[in-house]
Amino acid sequence: MKISVFETKEAASKYASDIFYEQIKKQPNSVLGLATGGTMSTFYEKLSGSINENPIDVKKLNTFNLDEYYEITSENPQSYHAYMKTLFFDKVGIDSAQTHFPYQKEHQEDPSLYDQQIDALGGIDIQLLGIGRNGHIGFNEPNTPFNSITRVVDLSETTIQDNARFFEDINEVPKQAVSMGISTIMKAKRIILLAFGEAKKDIIIELSKMTTPDENIPASILLTHPNVEIIVDKTIGEYLN
Ligand code: F6R
Repeated sequence: MKISVFETKEAASKYASDIFYEQIKKQPNSVLGLATGGTMSTFYEKLSGSINENPIDVKKLNTFNLDEYYEITSENPQSYHAYMKTLFFDKVGIDSAQTHFPYQKEHQEDPSLYDQQIDALGGIDIQLLGIGRNGHIGFNEPNTPFNSITRVVDLSETTIQDNARFFEDINEVPKQAVSMGISTIMKAKRIILLAFGEAKKDIIIELSKMTTPDENIPASILLTHPNVEIIVDKTIGEYLN
């Protein structure tokens, strides 16, 4: 598990976005695994900036988002559909036919079909991940079985509190989501995890000291993946050896 440290979130996000840019340039029909959340906004700004400044073909891409809140419509501005459209897809001309989410209120399907759709397109070439303070990846909260696939999940109290900053009232935060499972994520050929700032310091320090995976810290499964890079800013990096 490689850990790369950058002076700022900006520099780290640019480095990560260049990895995705090069992947798309090298293989225009790539399957991208994408994440949302506060951490990723600079990443999408940099990636869409690069694509618009030095155009590459994005029309053959397929994207699979990690998760979506349960029971909210894709038009709802709080949905991850809306987040992705505004911050990335519409900026670079990725059509909705190329994008996939594990849940859409308007067209509900068996969530486990998501794993089959990913496999049918040859699997995820590169997966972007954030991390929760409790070590969640996607919305796989502590003690999720490592062999889990895409399914409806209950959000933990920590996650509900952390995500309340995006809502007017904590009571508006959905209590459930549909998330790729841990085994779904682990099938990606390459994984890039971003973590920035004080809030993620403790979990990354803990993860960096672990030697064997523990279901209590979902991200620790990444110790067994052959191609993972964790990209952090100096706020976190100065505590790592
Ligand atoms: C988002 C996701 C989550 C977030 C994590 C960190 O699609 O799957 O795992 O990456 O909750 O969120 P932020 O970046 O808001 O701290």
